[in-house]
Amino acid sequence: MRIPEFGRGWRIQTSWLVLVLTLGLALLSCEAKEYNAPPDGQKKDVYIVIFEDMPIVTYNGKITGLRGTAKYFSEKWRKSHKRAHISDLVKKYNEYLIKEQDAILSDFFGFGDCEKTYRYTHLVNGVALPLTADEALRLSEHPKIVRVEKSYKVYKSTVHTPDYLGLPKGMWARSGGPAGAGENMVIGIVDTGIDPTHPSFAARGQKPYGPLRKFRGTCDYAREFPRGSCNGKIIGARFFNAAAKREGSFNATIHFASPLDGDGHGSHTASTAAGNYGVPVVFNGARYGLASGVAPRARVAVYKALYRYIGGSIPDVIAACNQAVADGVDILSLSLGPNAPPGGATSTFLNILDVALLNAVKANVLVVQAAGNGGPFAKTVTSFSPWVLSVAAGQDDRVFRNTLTLGNRGVIRGTGLAPATKGAYLYPLILADDAVAGKGDPALTPSSCQAASLYNRLLVRGKILICTFSFDFVYGGATMQQLAKTVKTLGAAGVAMMVDSDNAGGKYEVIPLSVPFIIFPSSASSNTLLAYYNRYTKKDRKGKIISFGATAKIGNGQTMTYTRSAQQVASFSSRGPNVKDFNFDEADILKPNVMAPGYLIWGAWTPIGTDNPAFTGQRFAMMSGTSMATPHVAGLAAMLKAKYPRWSPAALSSAMVTTADVADRQGRPLQAQGASADSTPFLQAATPFDMGSGALNIQAALNPGLIFEAGHLDYVKFLCSQATPREVLGSTKTACPVRAGMATDLNIPSITFANLVGTKLVPRTVTNVAPVAEKYTITITNARDFVVTANPSVFTIGVGRRNKQAIVFTVRATRASQASSFARITFTGSLGHVVRIPVSVVNKRLR
Ligand SMILES: *[C@@H]1O[C@H](CO)[C@@H](O)[C@H](O)[C@H]1NC(C)=O
Repeated sequence: MRIPEFGRGWRIQTSWLVLVLTLGLALLSCEAKEYNAPPDGQKKDVYIVIFEDMPIVTYNGKITGLRGTAKYFSEKWRKSHKRAHISDLVKKYNEYLIKEQDAILSDFFGFGDCEKTYRYTHLVNGVALPLTADEALRLSEHPKIVRVEKSYKVYKSTVHTPDYLGLPKGMWARSGGPAGAGENMVIGIVDTGIDPTHPSFAARGQKPYGPLRKFRGTCDYAREFPRGSCNGKIIGARFFNAAAKREGSFNATIHFASPLDGDGHGSHTASTAAGNYGVPVVFNGARYGLASGVAPRARVAVYKALYRYIGGSIPDVIAACNQAVADGVDILSLSLGPNAPPGGATSTFLNILDVALLNAVKANVLVVQAAGNGGPFAKTVTSFSPWVLSVAAGQDDRVFRNTLTLGNRGVIRGTGLAPATKGAYLYPLILADDAVAGKGDPALTPSSCQAASLYNRLLVRGKILICTFSFDFVYGGATMQQLAKTVKTLGAAGVAMMVDSDNAGGKYEVIPLSVPFIIFPSSASSNTLLAYYNRYTKKDRKGKIISFGATAKIGNGQTMTYTRSAQQVASFSSRGPNVKDFNFDEADILKPNVMAPGYLIWGAWTPIGTDNPAFTGQRFAMMSGTSMATPHVAGLAAMLKAKYPRWSPAALSSAMVTTADVADRQGRPLQAQGASADSTPFLQAATPFDMGSGALNIQAALNPGLIFEAGHLDYVKFLCSQATPREVLGSTKTACPVRAGMATDLNIPSITFANLVGTKLVPRTVTNVAPVAEKYTITITNARDFVVTANPSVFTIGVGRRNKQAIVFTVRATRASQASSFARITFTGSLGHVVRIPVSVVNKRLR
């Protein structure tokens, strides 16, 4: 068979490679019938099988399996042929891949029409199909198969801490950008789907979203995701559940076989990246300000591959990424990751997801991924590779302050994201235990206010009920929603909540409530309230109350103030050092890369999401996690790409990380929350292993001055320093150069040594992206156990063809140590650009 081939070294560009749509789903499985039949009862799991021919994104005419039949087209030939012709060749190559896949499988299974869970041709050349362990092993030995990897699970990177108020609005104020930010950009969101009826994604009332020719995605419609759901703002919507279905975890009743979000997480992340500008946040009827995505004019392309409770299976996630890149998204936002480094390859960088993402980057798509929520412990990052931008979560030090003003004019400070008691009146206080009707129900603790039936309604009506927050609210069945319901049913004026211990108080998660509410998370302030109550509440000898003399009013806890205080690395945010293998050996690549707000973020929610009971039935929710931080970065990337359409993923990501803030507005270093037993987080200076380069700075990122450029071959060369040439060839279809070099040669805006022995040279090349020449001076804050010098340390960088400058950094261990230490290299430009790169070294040896 003759295969059309492209010119040697000619790389496929996204613009036309996406003309080929990869094949969709084929839902039946390969059942090896008579031939190779597995022993009865042997369990089948879904595996991804990767073939030796290169996928469409890496196809360049140099195909191992086709050498000999190849006809290489010259550059001249390529230029003289039409786009339509080239796209025809890609179509033919796609057909060839499919034929080869089928030929190899039928060769193995012994019959012709083996059907797959998935067929992939775009990002990877493979199939997903159910196999027994035995079949998987035998398939992996097939000469035309390079790897066989068992499906693994990925999860939403959310923690169940509710969110932080008004941040998108605050970010908008800081970015100063128009509501047109992100125009004509498509952000692909691989998540739990989307609620198409949400005002954050409404097209009506917005400047019309015209057709976008570069995007070729489609929408999967269903009864619950009707026509019209894709409205221009939502420009594509697909779902991928074949593996989840095969694995038995998919339940159509709650997961929906459509792009509809049955969880809330996907709508939330999409609204943070690209939700409409100025959408009122209404929760339980109360307004909490306005929400906006970071790039409110960007389009949203939805690839649903995660499901409520169960997370996602990697074959579904890869199918989603494969489709997103084939459709032509500009940015891929992944608020997901495994719980631990997945196995299957010798290197974390060669795990099947990272290989697919490498090819997405090759197709010019920037990939942004959550760093994970395994913090504050070391080596918990679950986003590994240098071609992926990994996002840590920052927490603002804002608390939702509220006050309880007492009848004796005392004031107790607490927390409460809730309205004030009505009017200027003082209301009598009543302790829940004093309000129990009759004998009560011994199965229920009256102090947690979970059932209205327990209390004497006449006694409670018009009073502020004092309830107690205990571990029942954390691990037991007690909920704040039930508490609010009790207060409403009883006609109480509001609720003041004590804690039964500091430990329980430390676990209180802020959620908005619709009834007047305040909580005192420390036992000291709780005791102040109780003492006041006891002093003014008169009881007879039997303990029966004679008069309620303690009175109070609850302040308004809903007022929003954006404090602009510095972010701290949230305790849950996963930490470096990054790991290069499954023994958790440290890697020479920095992770995470940058920090963005990820604590108590208001975002769109779907009323049918039951994932978090606090937000069931609501259209907005406050969520925390690196999941929430990730779409902030995806949104900024869309703004950047709209401004600089020709920038590579490496350039976009470099602009965001080199301009990140490392200090607060007063110049104090940013801090990280460490592990602590009680409610007060232990703070320490944030290192690059906590926050990467620092906190995202939208304004600065839009004008970075210098960038660090890297492309596919650089990443492959990096991989060659991490794995055998055979492994690299198998996964990337690209041969290693004769001299692989060192991982630290990769031109990224960070320098990381897991093991520094003596002195090492680290080359870097910067590219001037400002329109004029600029003189830069390099300064270095040195570390405890090593020194860094730069050559040259002063240079003037031009524009046009003279816009590059090579620099060699010398990193020398000055003291043997196994403790991590850090330095920072700062390029200060004469025109005001400041470019920073972090240096981190784990082990140091003098020779
Ligand atoms: C699917 O979910 C529904 C709703 O929770 C439940 O009633 C049903 O039993 C589930 N089906 C399966 C097969 O688990």
